[in-house]
Amino acid sequence: MTTSSQPYIKFAGPIITPEMAAEVNETLLSGWITSGPQVAAFEKALSVYHAGRPARVFTSATAAMEVAFQICGIGPGDEVITSAMTFFSVGNMIEKVGAKTVFVDCDLHTRNIDIAQVKAAITPRTKAIVPTHFAGLPCDMDALLDIARTHRLRIIEDAALAIGSSWHGQKIGASGDIATFSFHPNKNMTTIEGGAAIFADEAEAKRAQVLRFHGITKLADGTRDVDVAGGKFNMSDVSARLGLRQLEMLDAWNVHRRELASVYFKLLTPIARDSSMHIVLPASAHTGEEDGHSWNMFCVLLDFDALGFSRKAFIDAMHAKGVGIGISYEAMHLSTLFRAKGHQPGEFPNAERIARQTVTLPLHAGMTDIDVAHVVSRMMSAFGDLFPR
Ligand SMILES: Cc1ncc(COP(=O)(O)O)c(C=O)c1O
Repeated sequence: MTTSSQPYIKFAGPIITPEMAAEVNETLLSGWITSGPQVAAFEKALSVYHAGRPARVFTSATAAMEVAFQICGIGPGDEVITSAMTFFSVGNMIEKVGAKTVFVDCDLHTRNIDIAQVKAAITPRTKAIVPTHFAGLPCDMDALLDIARTHRLRIIEDAALAIGSSWHGQKIGASGDIATFSFHPNKNMTTIEGGAAIFADEAEAKRAQVLRFHGITKLADGTRDVDVAGGKFNMSDVSARLGLRQLEMLDAWNVHRRELASVYFKLLTPIARDSSMHIVLPASAHTGEEDGHSWNMFCVLLDFDALGFSRKAFIDAMHAKGVGIGISYEAMHLSTLFRAKGHQPGEFPNAERIARQTVTLPLHAGMTDIDVAHVVSRMMSAFGDLFPR
């Protein structure tokens, strides 16, 4: 297939319609652009979406997680268990509040946290578990909540990639403890930058509201007080207005993402069966939970050592053929930050293999089935160009 006449297929990206842009413009010109009525309306809509649980919005999922840790009283002397295969922000926030990051490995196929290793990592200092719902595929929340109950731990779900995902038919965030979401443009809905936390407890949601805005509370005489060193993480009304309209589209977009993922499976499964292609496809879903995955990303493993070319060469070749490719993620324990704390290669083999071999193929709601077919055919063409002769 010739590809030169086809438009570039980005690996991720938002849909912003002219109507959405017009509404955002209206807010921009309304005379009130920082946190105000649009933030209140967006939080209400997010709460309705998550079975009536209290929602608070932030400038990012990273900010939401930092505030969640503060609410849970996580700090120096505490340990927080998380997967070595997640985005840097998780480890960063654990360290930033002064706690110790305790890594465990992930499953090679779901890329979600290894539950047996979580159990083995618990010590008297463990305060919380942070599971990431990788690419939108829910972790086993029954097992994690069971562990939390038994050991009296908090669970802060890193649902950055999982807005609209569900576990046993309930939206991620609608059950459990605290869940944090990202609205970065590569996520299933966007507020440009932004994030949210959904709480089980109304009092904690109210505390989050204080912590996200300098720790300020208003006194009866109209003056203000600060009883905790809060941050500055409040979302603007401009972003919230976009979020409101994006949320209305989310379920339909997620249905479309699932369709696109199923086209990838249809086209790639026969190719992956050929062992000379050295491709491992992602886990589609837990048995019986097919509709719970919101497919933020379609990540495959390519064994570049066996293929005889580098990931960089593959990504460059795909780029030249008009296809964007991402990498999600590096193994967090091998970052300079955590190597300096004594971590080294060999500790978490699945996370390390994923870090070496992963590529993220394009998947976003603006794509068509034909785009998916183009990605797969250009991938095969890149393999043909790159295979050592
Ligand atoms: C798994 C995961 N967690 C957390 C985050 C942080 O999200 P944000 O950029 O909104 O802070 C990201 C961002 O990409 C992510 O991929």
